[in-house]
Amino acid sequence: MSVGIDEISFYTSNYFLDLKHLAETHSIDADKFYQGIGQEKMGMPAPDEDVVTMAANAAFPLIERVGTDAISTVMFATETGIDQSKSAGVYVHRLLGLNANCRVVEMKQACYSATAAIQMACALVARQPEKKVLVIASDVARYDLDTPGEATQGCGAVAMLITANPRLVELDPEVGNYTEDVMDFWRPNYRSTALVDGKYSTKIYLKSLKMAWEHFREVSSLAFTDFQHFCYHLPFTRMAQKAHKHLARVNDSQLTPEELDQQVEDTLLYNRIIGNSYTASMYIGLASLLENCKQNLAGKRIGFFSYGSGCVAEFFSGKIVAGYEKCLHSNKHQTMLEARNAVTYDEYLSLYNDVDPTDGGEHTKAEGTTGRFRLAGISHHKREYIAC
Ligand code: HMG
Repeated sequence: MSVGIDEISFYTSNYFLDLKHLAETHSIDADKFYQGIGQEKMGMPAPDEDVVTMAANAAFPLIERVGTDAISTVMFATETGIDQSKSAGVYVHRLLGLNANCRVVEMKQACYSATAAIQMACALVARQPEKKVLVIASDVARYDLDTPGEATQGCGAVAMLITANPRLVELDPEVGNYTEDVMDFWRPNYRSTALVDGKYSTKIYLKSLKMAWEHFREVSSLAFTDFQHFCYHLPFTRMAQKAHKHLARVNDSQLTPEELDQQVEDTLLYNRIIGNSYTASMYIGLASLLENCKQNLAGKRIGFFSYGSGCVAEFFSGKIVAGYEKCLHSNKHQTMLEARNAVTYDEYLSLYNDVDPTDGGEHTKAEGTTGRFRLAGISHHKREYIAC
């Protein structure tokens, strides 16, 4: 019996800022963003959107197909948690009308936690193969204005069904891990924006890739040449291109730079126009590969590198299942991405500055999302979510 990803659906806000406006405001060349970090647009959540509404929007098409009683567990990965105690997934459980016997939990380790959720979901399914686990990753990447990180903001959520005999990706049980206590990126509880040592974070990312890969090679018989495509964690798309060349060097690969680029390029398309969505980022990259690769991917081996600052990293692998192309939500995703609205720099600032009130009063949220679920207000410190 194989275990893995049976279905994948993602969501991002209907607002984005084209990075050329950020470049104009800071009087820098837009190519620093378009080429230097490989980002074109960044998603900005509407005032009535957060990780809960994005997650429910991402998961809705999956629940529509399998039904509300099919899910035994929801694992919600995020580093933009809205409550120190209650799992964001419990709100999603209600919004989606899931069965009261379904367990719900929230996971955290920077951008890595969705991968931890998937591995734990696989273990649950291996033990009880009739169960379906819903893994959701949802995040809003926020940095201080006028910092190098600002251009790498974004928002998005991805929902995946983990089942036995999956229709998309069979995941191999062997994984390579690397953990080290470092301060490359972090967000103390009292801050709404992340702190980051940007250049250092890129170095630690590359070091973790090498270390996780070396561990993977100890436990798996697969070598670099066994993989046709690679999905990397995507803080910005150039990071994946650099990482892939780094891994190729570690393995003395004879592939040309163009051949190496081809192994990652289809994974980058969505993130280039959404931005970093932290926990969701690599899996939106997987959706991008599955939905945009011109070749038939059936039987192809994919290498995954999941990285979460702080840091925990994992290299793992999977094989694409024959017939996968019939189980994708490509049209829905394309329609959503094409229907987004560009915002001006000033509109971006007002979205950026629309932070949650903390006074315990009664606040309604301005309508902005075109999604199915919205945060209608916050009253007496309670978040009020509704389906539109
Ligand atoms: P920066 O100040 O924009 O860096 O910060 P830069 O000045 O070195 O420019 C970036 C690249 O643009 C350089 O290329 C320049 O040459 C090029 P490189 O040397 O890297 O190949 N460039 C140009 N290219 C074309 N035309 C031009 C031009 N000008 C310059 N005119 C940095 C970049 C990534 C540090 C910053 O964006 C940042 O701090 N980002 C946030 C941190 C981050 O994303 N780190 C990634 C690794 S950590 C991670 O992935 C985890 C994370 O997702 C969080 C989590 O796990 O929870 C962040």
